Amino acid sequence: MTAEPLEIHLTDEDLGRALRADVRAGLTAVPKWLPPKWFYDARGSELFERITRLPEYYPTRTERAVLAEHAGQIARITSVKTLIELGSGSSEKTRLLLDALTGRGDLGTFVPLDVSVSALRQSTAQIAADYPGLRVRGIVGDFTRHLDRLPTGGRRLVAFLGGTIGNLTPDERATFLRSTRTALEPGDWLLLGTDLVKDPGVLVPAYDDAAGVTAEFNRNVLRVLNRELGADFDPDAFDHVALWDPGRRWIEMRLRARSPQRVRVPALDLELDFAEGEELRTEISAKFRPEDVDAELGAAGFPVRARWTDPDGWYALTLAQAT
Ligand code: AVJ
Repeated sequence: MTAEPLEIHLTDEDLGRALRADVRAGLTAVPKWLPPKWFYDARGSELFERITRLPEYYPTRTERAVLAEHAGQIARITSVKTLIELGSGSSEKTRLLLDALTGRGDLGTFVPLDVSVSALRQSTAQIAADYPGLRVRGIVGDFTRHLDRLPTGGRRLVAFLGGTIGNLTPDERATFLRSTRTALEPGDWLLLGTDLVKDPGVLVPAYDDAAGVTAEFNRNVLRVLNRELGADFDPDAFDHVALWDPGRRWIEMRLRARSPQRVRVPALDLELDFAEGEELRTEISAKFRPEDVDAELGAAGFPVRARWTDPDGWYALTLAQAT
């Protein structure tokens, strides 16, 4: 079957408005920050795909291994009619779930939701071609804003993979999990991928690789601002920084000004000064203890039914059921 036309809940104008609001709020704050979602233009998405293949970046391959091992069990336990994937990107690992769920004959519909029209066009076309009989309904939307637009009816499984929930602060996670719960009915399922706390000697290189791909990914957000807002950042005037915060249990990525500089952002009528060494926070990537995942899911109305990890205990897939 061919994929259905994309359902668009986020237009280019919405995205432009959101970008301008985020950049104004973040770059006029002290300390300066930017939300990680603006990394992912075409070049940023390409750089992220390269990150997932780096020797230091273990989360993607570890999650794939856990999924490969347990997708059959997930399909048996949930036996859902509809699979919804939030922040679906390429949906590459999701095929393991699709194989298991379609193999049992339960699954009728796959609903990937992503902010990127180009990523969704590609992934929905390929998945529709490879899974005949599966209804593929791509939704262009933001998983922090458009959960009320998810299709209703039938047993549903929402998959939120890749550890993307780690990009949210604890408050944002609580809000996000609550809205996910509100979008579902009792008995529906949530499959959550989370990176786990581990030795900083493993964590930090995953965000500061020897080949410098993550550094380029980090600087890419400045290129996005240059293109979309007419800003005049010199990306090479910023150093990539990755730090482990043991108290908050997250990796922080920052861009550190190598010298004092002034940056203009014409679309916002803004002029910004960076002192030498001043840092701009571009991402947090939280790492979890299994008991924290249980507590956060439980508080949102999702008691945990099962958890699977790799043999090293580096990455967890948690299956929870709405009550
Ligand atoms: C896509 C959000 C899961 O936090 O590990 C990779 C993004 N940032 N390297 C992560 C990312 C730097 C990634 N997530």
